Amino acid sequence: MYVVVSVLVVLLASSSLAQIQGELNCTAYNGTSFVYSASAVACSNVLSDQYCQVAYPSANSWLGYPEEGSSFQRPLLCFTTGTTSSSPTSKDAKTAAIAHCPKTCGLCCQTSTYSCQNAPFPRLNCASVTKAMCLSITWRQILAEDCPNFCGFCDLNGCIDLVTGCDSDVSICNAIGMQEFVNLNCRRTCGRCSVATPKPCSGR
Ligand SMILES: *[C@@H]1O[C@H](CO)[C@@H](O)[C@H](O)[C@H]1NC(C)=O
Ligand SMILES: *[C@@H]1O[C@H](CO)[C@@H](O)[C@H](O)[C@H]1NC(C)=O
Repeated sequence: MYVVVSVLVVLLASSSLAQIQGELNCTAYNGTSFVYSASAVACSNVLSDQYCQVAYPSANSWLGYPEEGSSFQRPLLCFTTGTTSSSPTSKDAKTAAIAHCPKTCGLCCQTSTYSCQNAPFPRLNCASVTKAMCLSITWRQILAEDCPNFCGFCDLNGCIDLVTGCDSDVSICNAIGMQEFVNLNCRRTCGRCSVATPKPCSGR
């Protein structure tokens, strides 16, 4: 009897916890259920992942934490101080979650780097951008201007380094012989966004 009851309890609990409830930001309806969007988990936690998993226990330890495309409940403490997913949402709980553990909470889309509008008439379809494109030297500038919220470029105001790593040695910004390189590739780190981007040679 006890076994039957506990199986039932687990089944009931899993059916309600297996769905995202209470806080639907950073999710999209896929036709059958709400699932986490890519931008729900695109950032890093501000505090360590290890701390975040202790501070924000999984709502369903057998299913784990928010992932792109998954539909299980996020940790309750990410949005409520109550004990069920239908408890009233708490602004303080959410503010703290976004400030400290946005990835563990599946709330990256509400951090300042991901919460801005894309350009009204983007030159490419922002919905078809891939994560690899966010790192691509060919795409980064246009994405920073047109699809900033997909790549987490919202804080940059269109001023971006084309390559990653410029900030690992800022002395390159002043190095003789590096000026052409940094003016093109390290515009943000070296403060060159007001310098016009070199145009490809025309007819020479
Ligand atoms: C999304 O977040 C905002 C601000 O925290 C909140 O007011 C709103 O109710 C949330 N929307 C959903 C669908 O949960
Ligand atoms: C929607 O997401 C759920 C949970 O990840 C999945 O089981 C289901 O197959 C998805 N439905 C569609 C139409 O993609």
